[in-house]
Amino acid sequence: MYLGIDVGTSEVKALLLAADHTVIGTAGSTLEVSRPHPGHSEQNPADWWAATQAALAKLKSAHPTEFAATQAIGLSGQMHGAVLLDAANQVLRPAILWNDTRSALECQEMMAELPEAATLAGSLLMPGFTAPKLRWVARHEPALFAQVAKVLLPKDYVRLMLTGEHITDLSDASGTAWLDVAKRAWSPALLALTGMTEAQMPRVVEGSAPGGFLSASVAAQLGLQSGIVVAGGAGDNASSAVGMGAVNAGEGFLSLGTSGVLFVVTPQFAPNAQSATHAFCHAVPARWHQMSVMLSAASCLQWARQALGAASEAALEAQAAALDLAARAEAPLFLPYLSGERTPHNDAVLRGSFHNLSHSTDQAALAYAVIEGVTFGLTDGLNALKKAGSAVTRLALVGGGARSAMWAQQLASSLDVEIVLTAESAAGGALGAARLGWLATGASQDLVCTQPAITHRYQPDPAEKALLAPRYARFAALYPALKALQALQ
Ligand code: XUL
Repeated sequence: MYLGIDVGTSEVKALLLAADHTVIGTAGSTLEVSRPHPGHSEQNPADWWAATQAALAKLKSAHPTEFAATQAIGLSGQMHGAVLLDAANQVLRPAILWNDTRSALECQEMMAELPEAATLAGSLLMPGFTAPKLRWVARHEPALFAQVAKVLLPKDYVRLMLTGEHITDLSDASGTAWLDVAKRAWSPALLALTGMTEAQMPRVVEGSAPGGFLSASVAAQLGLQSGIVVAGGAGDNASSAVGMGAVNAGEGFLSLGTSGVLFVVTPQFAPNAQSATHAFCHAVPARWHQMSVMLSAASCLQWARQALGAASEAALEAQAAALDLAARAEAPLFLPYLSGERTPHNDAVLRGSFHNLSHSTDQAALAYAVIEGVTFGLTDGLNALKKAGSAVTRLALVGGGARSAMWAQQLASSLDVEIVLTAESAAGGALGAARLGWLATGASQDLVCTQPAITHRYQPDPAEKALLAPRYARFAALYPALKALQALQ
């Protein structure tokens, strides 16, 4: 048995995987995000650990025998978050998350001071990455910055609780903007931009290599065996890729979760910073990936549910799905920039909007617009990846949005690729994490990183393509207009 733990933004999810690839069970525990100021997004690391314990307790009570037989643990998690620890491993402030955009100025300063920063880091330095956040802390909270002994990523805080060690893996380390992604090692030049040294960083290991061992006291508390290996693990996107069996060049997936991600494996480091895509290490050795990231994807539907007072996101989606093509053509356009955007705009102050409202715009039309706006954001992402040299013909859909047939069909038509659902589409990062745990026991990549069976295929639909193409052209034209408006604010 292999245990995967995914420290997400909206929940911690635990998954138990058997050596015949059967998912024995999953359990989750939800998390809240605190937004104390516009553009700020924070969580308390203690909540991740409490949610991890709660999810594991549920998994243990549902599958006691299998849980106790766990031979290895893998960790996956939301990327980029900054957990600041003092010399006694005490958390100094709430963690600043991946979708926090407070450090835009620091990004500009860092890239001006070190013009090769984006090439070293594999991406433009964007707010949300870890390094610029530390420069923000140094500027705004200098007394606290002076106490920072270690900076950990979210899943690695959970590892600290499990093993007592400061370790991260290369895929997640890539999202800090402190890593020399080509060399797969910390970059002294990038660290110097934030006045930090390697001593403040966790040790880096490959995602599939051992990254600590479960301590006796925590093992006893959780009902697991003491000393079992905890794999390096991965950022949630690289981990989802491992779960989907995407470990070889050209293989990829599309994640429709809180964020929206297109991910393609590359055989070497292939940065194209100007497209605002990310080129990061993969979670297996000698592999990298390119990725487009939109900050608000399925979270736009969550926002719409709250704003419109709808019963559930599924109810909104059903209303949108019931609209015929003629009604969809009349729907407004939605720009999904609720917390700014990374790919392709790298714009922290950008915000969302509806365009073309009329007296006949009802809840169903607004719901349709929101879903379509996210689809168009992902279409922008694919176009950016194409500029960065990636070609895809098929994408496996993962994440909460994979539950919507209408969304999957629309993505196939707008991206003009085959979208497939697999038996494990809902598992996300937790399955990849369990697989990385399995690899850390010495199992081979061929045995572990298989592609789950395809359960459904969505092909581009000509009539839907004809509807979407002109609407996408109008969507794309709205960004420069919004940008011009911003200048007036
Ligand atoms: C990736 C990113 C998000 C988070 C979400 O760069 O910021 O996908 O990993 O958990």
